[in-house]
Amino acid sequence: EQMAKELLDPLALIKDEVSEISNRLRSMVVAEVPELTLAAGYFFRAGAEGKRTCPTVLLLMASSISMDMADPIVGSKNEIRERYMRLAEITELIHVTSLIHDDVLDDANTRRGMDSLNCVMGKKLAVLAGDFLLSKAFSTAAVSLDNAEGHNIKVILLLATAVNNLVTGEFMQMRITPIQRCSMDYYLQKSYYKTAALISNSCKAVAGIAYQLIDDILDFTGTSASLGKGSLSDIHQGIVTAPILFAMEEYPQLRVIVEQGFDDPSNVDAALAYLARSKGIERTRLLAAEHAKLAADAIDALPESKDGSVLISRQALKDLTEKLIKRTK
Ligand code: FPP
Ligand code: MG
Ligand code: MG
Repeated sequence: EQMAKELLDPLALIKDEVSEISNRLRSMVVAEVPELTLAAGYFFRAGAEGKRTCPTVLLLMASSISMDMADPIVGSKNEIRERYMRLAEITELIHVTSLIHDDVLDDANTRRGMDSLNCVMGKKLAVLAGDFLLSKAFSTAAVSLDNAEGHNIKVILLLATAVNNLVTGEFMQMRITPIQRCSMDYYLQKSYYKTAALISNSCKAVAGIAYQLIDDILDFTGTSASLGKGSLSDIHQGIVTAPILFAMEEYPQLRVIVEQGFDDPSNVDAALAYLARSKGIERTRLLAAEHAKLAADAIDALPESKDGSVLISRQALKDLTEKLIKRTK
């Protein structure tokens, strides 16, 4: 019966582990100063955790590559699973850090349909809460991934690379020349750093780019209620994403507007008018679907397995990719 339930909802396979991770994160995020504990724990409260995509993808990926035999270097199957759980927690800590700092940089008032942390406690405390969470991520990595052979050093390096990529992606977005702003290559590289690098460095999965493309569509099409933020925020901040880049290919006149930037509200209106007439949104969806296909192909390319839970986890990852493409929030 359990098996039938898992086939209907593959996420049931890891549901308990994901809630265990939420609980652990809640108890981990405790600082010496109560106010810092309050700030750092803000997005870990029950109901404030968001979609928990990081731990979900990571655990499914872990199950997808699980081998029949225990690894003699790393330990028994249960010990390995525990390490993956810690890795999922660390990834979520880094992810939440990036969101808190992002809202400071963006002066955002809302996050996950709630007031942003900088809105509730001010940006100074938000910066420090993020720093605190990042320190927790790396201390957890050092303590719980430790082993005699020093294998954790590689894992910690991957995590450091992920943080480095986040910072680089954010910087690329902030300091962009008019020519770079019109480049699809620059945009995709930036999107990889901002969104895919964390998840792919943590589990080498590939769903991140598709995720960012859908995000950028929703910035245009979603209602502010379902997005948990004001829509059209990218363009108002002068951030040019795939839908506009595609529209520009159809309407070269749009390029002049994009190069001028969006400080003038009439430029925003004009760009939106071009976007509405173009196939920009449609083509962004197709590009997202292509990346989702790459992710699915990568999963299919994993070594063959007859283990039921390995196969279910692989299918769940593919389903999740499909769901991310179809999501509306
Ligand atoms: C959200 O993008 C932002 C990110 C995914 C990355 C932000 C990265 C940093 C602030 C670098 C520092 C990170 C660490 C871990 C120290 P968005 O603003 O386009 O989207 P959103 O606000 O709508 O979610
Ligand atoms: Mg933002
Ligand atoms: Mg931002």
